[in-house]
Amino acid sequence: MYRIGIVTISDKGARGERLDESGERIREMAGTLGVIESYQVIPDDPGTIKNTLLHLVDHMKLDLVLTTGGTGLGPRDNTPEATLAVIEREAPGLAEAMRLESLKKTSRAMLSRAVAGVRHSTLIVNLPGSVRAVEDCLSIILPALPHGLDMLTGRSGECGSSYKNDRIF
Ligand code: MTE
Repeated sequence: MYRIGIVTISDKGARGERLDESGERIREMAGTLGVIESYQVIPDDPGTIKNTLLHLVDHMKLDLVLTTGGTGLGPRDNTPEATLAVIEREAPGLAEAMRLESLKKTSRAMLSRAVAGVRHSTLIVNLPGSVRAVEDCLSIILPALPHGLDMLTGRSGECGSSYKNDRIF
């Protein structure tokens, strides 16, 4: 079981003006993968996002951090930049897969600037903000995450095992 953190990034959510359905959906879906050890709703402030991610990685040493929101083109959409400031290595395939598959449903998928990457032994993945986007994007990457996390945390370095059960298409 992996140790997971959820960060909802939303000015309205942090002010209590919007119910965080996306964070709840992540909790349900990612709960199949491990234990949710941290859940926070924070504003779209770059410094706050960066410090929150640093705490979850450097202090809590979680395996996986999933963020939702703030990946678009709006003036307060700062999640990708804050994530890039924290990660040491990008894992672009995760964001590529989310956009590629999501584009089959909505052209708006191309508006998400979500990134994914690794700091120390933690994988951080940005998800877009809406519940529907969270459902789409998490179902796309979930099948690949156990193997990625096993490699990242040193639980497995073996890529040759059968992959017949991890298809999304
Ligand atoms: N991806 C999927 N699968 N489904 C969606 O509904 N919404 C898009 C996009 N990605 C969407 C999606 C929209 S409308 C936007 S503006 C961007 O994600 C960024 O959303 P965010 O700023 O809430 O992160």
